[in-house]
Amino acid sequence: MESSSLFTNSATKDNQQLPDIVISDLPKERGWLTEYIHPYKGFWYATPVLQGLIALQDNHFKLKPTDVLLASYPKSGTTWLKALLFAITNRPQYDFNTHPLLSSNPHELVPHLESYAFKYPTNPIPNSSLMHTHLAFNSLPVTDGSSKCKIVYVFRDAKDVLSSFWYFVQKLRPKDLPFISLPEAFDQFSKGYSPFGPFWDHVMGYYKASLEYPKMIYFLKYEDLKKDPKFHAKRLAEFLEKPFSLKEESEGTVEKIIELCSFEKLSNLEVNKEGTHTDFLFPTIANNIFFRQGKVGDSKNHLSKEMIEVLDEMTKQKLGLI
Ligand code: A3P
Repeated sequence: MESSSLFTNSATKDNQQLPDIVISDLPKERGWLTEYIHPYKGFWYATPVLQGLIALQDNHFKLKPTDVLLASYPKSGTTWLKALLFAITNRPQYDFNTHPLLSSNPHELVPHLESYAFKYPTNPIPNSSLMHTHLAFNSLPVTDGSSKCKIVYVFRDAKDVLSSFWYFVQKLRPKDLPFISLPEAFDQFSKGYSPFGPFWDHVMGYYKASLEYPKMIYFLKYEDLKKDPKFHAKRLAEFLEKPFSLKEESEGTVEKIIELCSFEKLSNLEVNKEGTHTDFLFPTIANNIFFRQGKVGDSKNHLSKEMIEVLDEMTKQKLGLI
């Protein structure tokens, strides 16, 4: 594959004239947290997300070589990775007894790119080198493939993503939006028009890119991280070119970071039990809605046998051995 092939049609290729997107002209489907989602470059985005994406394009946003971007489909482990990446990249600055993660939710510490851009369309670049996006790889207004920036993509089993997403929507859904049942959400998700979907194409886009640009994109499974957090935390640090030193290893820094970012620790902090933050799209979000079970395979308690079969078969067909 040519080195620029994955970036063909990339929104920020220097000399490329971008087509104007007129959102009201786009088809629409029912959103889960917003009234509508619209198709753009093969993916479905909520209206404000698309507005944020347009703002990034209009401002010719590109990641800087020092930037680290966490990318994920919603409910795939974003909160966990935000915490881990924040703790790993900032570790010289903070003491574990007074660490910012003890008093701030990970979503406050790592800005969400497209929702920030929605809120500040004329100056849409967050003032942070560590950022997060749910945009599909082909919509990333970032780079021509030669960038020295780092992208970490976390992916999770489709069944757990769907059930986690559905519970999340029940907690965050604005009161004026109609209730969506789990079978309805399953129907949209499996047909590809869930927010940021199709899920499988989202995963595949980053997976292919990670094969082509292994120094730029690190592809990680939630389930693997659960199994061996120490191994993956160390690999993440190496990928970010901030490997743990022998001194740090002997002092137990890796274990301390894993413990600090664990579901048990974060979900039991006062800030995450009682606190709120703003996401730019939502004026107030209760921090505790990002912590539910934090387990692998919990979807079997919520999805029907038929739903499980369909999602497993789709994953097998579309993602194969990933
Ligand atoms: P469940 O709903 O299955 O419990 P995201 O952060 O992408 O929104 O994903 C949220 C999911 O990750 C939720 O899954 C949540 O409980 C889980 N989660 C949050 N923090 C976690 C952590 N530190 N470790 C493991 N899982 C975590």
